[in-house]
Amino acid sequence: MKKPALLSLVLASSLIAGGNVWAESNASPIFSEINVDNIYNHIAHLSKSPRDAGTQGEYNAVQYIKNEFAKLGYTTRTQSFSFYKYRMIDNATLSLDKQEGISLAPRKKERSSSKEVQGELVYVKKAKKNQIAGMDLKGKIVLAESGGISLDEKIDNVVEQGAVGMIYISTDSKETLVDGEHALKPIPVVRVGNNDGQALLAQWKEKKQKQVVANLEGLLAVRATSYNVIASLPANHSPSTGEIVVIGAHHDSVAGSPGANDDGSGTGTVLELARVMANKTRDTEIRFVTFGAEEYGLYGSKAYVNSLSTSEVGRMVGEFQLDMVGSKNSGTLIMYTVDGSKNVVTDLGATSASQISGVIPYGQLGRSDHVPFYQRGIPSALFVHAPVEPEYHSPQDTIENISKPKLLNVAQIVGESVYKIIDPSTPSFDNYRDFFTPVDYPFENRPPQ
Ligand code: BES
Ligand code: ZN
Repeated sequence: MKKPALLSLVLASSLIAGGNVWAESNASPIFSEINVDNIYNHIAHLSKSPRDAGTQGEYNAVQYIKNEFAKLGYTTRTQSFSFYKYRMIDNATLSLDKQEGISLAPRKKERSSSKEVQGELVYVKKAKKNQIAGMDLKGKIVLAESGGISLDEKIDNVVEQGAVGMIYISTDSKETLVDGEHALKPIPVVRVGNNDGQALLAQWKEKKQKQVVANLEGLLAVRATSYNVIASLPANHSPSTGEIVVIGAHHDSVAGSPGANDDGSGTGTVLELARVMANKTRDTEIRFVTFGAEEYGLYGSKAYVNSLSTSEVGRMVGEFQLDMVGSKNSGTLIMYTVDGSKNVVTDLGATSASQISGVIPYGQLGRSDHVPFYQRGIPSALFVHAPVEPEYHSPQDTIENISKPKLLNVAQIVGESVYKIIDPSTPSFDNYRDFFTPVDYPFENRPPQ
């Protein structure tokens, strides 16, 4: 029978002036063993140049990460996967025979294959099979609404009936189409916002818009290869819980950005946590994973999560995602979950934080590699400082803007949280609420930008 653990939590609030009682007497070895200079040096190395997924820059980072894991005694697995890189549509135009006050220049991030097409405009509602059955779409440009079925299905349906282009009315102003493979479809697709789309539809109904010329030249989609780096630290204590905890970060950056904070900071922290965990007694497996192609649509974490067996998914107790954890110019630490609910990861994070430096809030946000874990039912949370720094996704995201105190704090909080799971004196986490009472921590509606 395991003894009830985490008694030290009662001391969580005994932070006294001039000293932290918890840190001095109850902290795990992790707390004092983390060396922030190691994290800083990893970031300095990784951020020498951009790590755009699918480029040599990313590949060099992958080799560096593998080599650092190897120095710590880990064998790593490199998981390759393919994804689609798009060139943004900056200059695409869509001209109509009569403009009538509608501006239809597609916004950035709207993607389509490269082609100039011309044809008569036909309204096809949501382009469901039954809505277009029997319609002659040969050589036509269709006007389709969002909803019901996916954009990919709409495109496939109209292509089957001979359409040469699509104007897609998107009611969701946040839709960015980052996940799809629209650029590989044989016809150009231009998205328009709801107002412009409805105006166009009204004109079409009055039969004013008949001919449409869509000029989408210069667009490009290429299939590229990216990698995840996976290092596993199996349990070394018997009995083991059979459970797995994941610490993740993405090693890729956006093109043109050194990505010191996004996400060299998370990657460096994962490596340092791998160092301090390696010699600990553990009843739970830890997986340290750095993901590729996060910036193109979470491709690495999706590939990783898809590759897990049902048994592995069932044994995964949580994923701690570290993304942008060390900028001098960002806000304070917050834990975001996809659905805005607390889970075991945020419970542990808040409790550890309260012991180390004070309680931290949770909030709701996707936008990083915790999302695919959530989607497969694995509790996950994104640890990030918000609001984000002005250097986000820019060439100025450099080592000069990295804060060692912030890095150290996040590494300690996540390290302590994970240690509470792997420590053989704590029971397995499937019933963790039976013995573990998390601190109170607030929900905060904090926009990241
Ligand atoms: N690190 C960011 C996500 C982020 C941004 C978290 C701001 C918290 C605050 C991440 O690398 C990123 O840029 N993600 C993309 C989304 C992804 C699905 C392509 C983004 O947010 O645009
Ligand atoms: Zn990021």
